[in-house]
Amino acid sequence: MKDITTVRLTVNGEAVERAVESRVSLADFLRDDLRLTGTHLGCEHGVCGACTVLVDGKSARACLMLAVQADGAAVRTVEGLGTPENLNPLQRAMMEHHGLQCGFCTPGMLMTLTEFIEQRRDSPPPSEAEIREVLSGNICRCTGYQTIVDAVMAVLNPPDGAA
Ligand code: FES
Ligand code: FES
Repeated sequence: MKDITTVRLTVNGEAVERAVESRVSLADFLRDDLRLTGTHLGCEHGVCGACTVLVDGKSARACLMLAVQADGAAVRTVEGLGTPENLNPLQRAMMEHHGLQCGFCTPGMLMTLTEFIEQRRDSPPPSEAEIREVLSGNICRCTGYQTIVDAVMAVLNPPDGAA
């Protein structure tokens, strides 16, 4: 017999209520039930970071979390950042600095970096080493990371007059 639970949460600011099997991961819930396929699945065991979302403002591996564990939470996914017509500053910087190639890792990178940038508001600009530390939980097989670091530096340390 299936163990079904009703979950109530917000996803990108919208209230969601769904009956879900207790064994379903948050990643599968987002992708299959809500059709928010921007959250990618790579390793499915917590290593690659492709599935990273924000749960109550903190980054979380959606492949390691059950949907029922997100009951009552505010979940943010890459779909909540910007739109193709209106990229947010981090997305725009990633594009301008070539911070992505195939793009598979990009949603997880963006969510990890969104947490970092939001935590850093009003702090001195980070060093490259700090950004690399933040990125250490997200694997990218394409870029070599430097262009992603450059994008974050551009957002958090814009040239005079560009802030
Ligand atoms: S798919 Fe979740 S960490 Fe790799
Ligand atoms: S851009 Fe291809 S894995 Fe990162």
